[in-house]
Amino acid sequence: MDISRIKVNKVRLRKDLEALGKFGEEPDGGILRPALSEADLKAREWFKGRMRDAGLQVREDAVANIIGRLEPASGAEGGPCIATGSHTDAVLHGGKFDGAAGLCCSLEALRAIQESGIPVPCPLELMVFTDEEGGHYAGTFGSRAMFNLLVEGEIYKSRGAGRPFLAQSLERMGKDPAQSGKAVRSPSEFRAFLELHIEQGPVLDSLGIPIGVVEGIVAIDRHMIEVEGKAGHAGTTPMRLRDDALVKAARIVTAVNRAVRSLGADIVGTIGEMKVHPGAFNIIPGRVEMTLDLRSMKKSILKTARGKIREILRSTRGASLATALSKDRARKDRKIMEFIEESCRQRGVSWKRMGSGAGHDAMTFPTQGIPTGMIFIPCKEGKSHCPEEAIRWEDAAIGAQILADTIMRIGFNIGTKSTSGKVRAH
Ligand code: GLV
Ligand code: MN
Ligand code: MN
Repeated sequence: MDISRIKVNKVRLRKDLEALGKFGEEPDGGILRPALSEADLKAREWFKGRMRDAGLQVREDAVANIIGRLEPASGAEGGPCIATGSHTDAVLHGGKFDGAAGLCCSLEALRAIQESGIPVPCPLELMVFTDEEGGHYAGTFGSRAMFNLLVEGEIYKSRGAGRPFLAQSLERMGKDPAQSGKAVRSPSEFRAFLELHIEQGPVLDSLGIPIGVVEGIVAIDRHMIEVEGKAGHAGTTPMRLRDDALVKAARIVTAVNRAVRSLGADIVGTIGEMKVHPGAFNIIPGRVEMTLDLRSMKKSILKTARGKIREILRSTRGASLATALSKDRARKDRKIMEFIEESCRQRGVSWKRMGSGAGHDAMTFPTQGIPTGMIFIPCKEGKSHCPEEAIRWEDAAIGAQILADTIMRIGFNIGTKSTSGKVRAH
């Protein structure tokens, strides 16, 4: 099977990436496109059109995941598929390529496969997952819903005042949240899952290597911290008689930061969001809500961190912690890593094996025993989750090519030589 005939179209891919980056674009070059917001709904409709143009059968499931399917010409219709995909939603004031790169490269890969004239080896699916970033609650929503992994009542919870919960956003789209269970699929419907993503860190860019072969994704704990104080008049209440929730929260922020730092380089912890209630010049803060995100490749360190943080909260009157979501570290499939590397070798592209400190829907599939792989492409200076996020078009084209080749290698089960996992420059 001569898969070297498959050729992605760099110009078409660039046009798609630029077009998708217009939905929710902000003057500074970043985007505001939270999951299922107006901008996201428009981006999704546009992408569905591009999927249909590429010959995919497009449907939307009960939780708004978009699924485009390409059936093989004959024989294997309706069988287990190789799926690829990513997300259209973005963090607040984020960049244009987190999620979007994976979607446009997947689409380009499927177009190039069809144009090569090589018969598609099995059904192929392209998925746009709902709320990967956690705009409503805790992230990777669509893929977790697909495998019945939602937290109890999750679609009726939100990250706090003013944020919609998933059920509201689904209703706004004309969907019945009570039917969300219909999105559940059986792992046996999947032969493999592959996600291409920007690295979101500086390693590939600094080394000038275009492809990262992901070995594993960090375990992620997401917690909500609440601190209760006593609201009161900001002008009449003497300082000594106050129970200011924000002052206590500030102490917690610095203590948590110190505790995480004390555990060394294998863990990161972030308090990234804080809401002060009721929130005014002239009211002593009565309650504070904060999010805490803890990540490590090492489960034991994460456990130690949890213990230290619980201690900090126990020593603060009115403080409590509730775990929103705990995602296990996800290992990538060895055979798929080799398929990616074989694809790089054949195209004369250098690669590097690496871990992912960012979370992805590709964390969900391994929990179901589905062989999963991830391909990283560089982003300039490693900047991500900010307006400066940028890529080189050339790297996107290389990524789409390696993705297309890898899909075919998995599909036809084309063997690989074993690899050492070292960086290879060609
Ligand atoms: C998603 O980008 C995450 O890592 O939280
Ligand atoms: Mn992200
Ligand atoms: Mn992402």
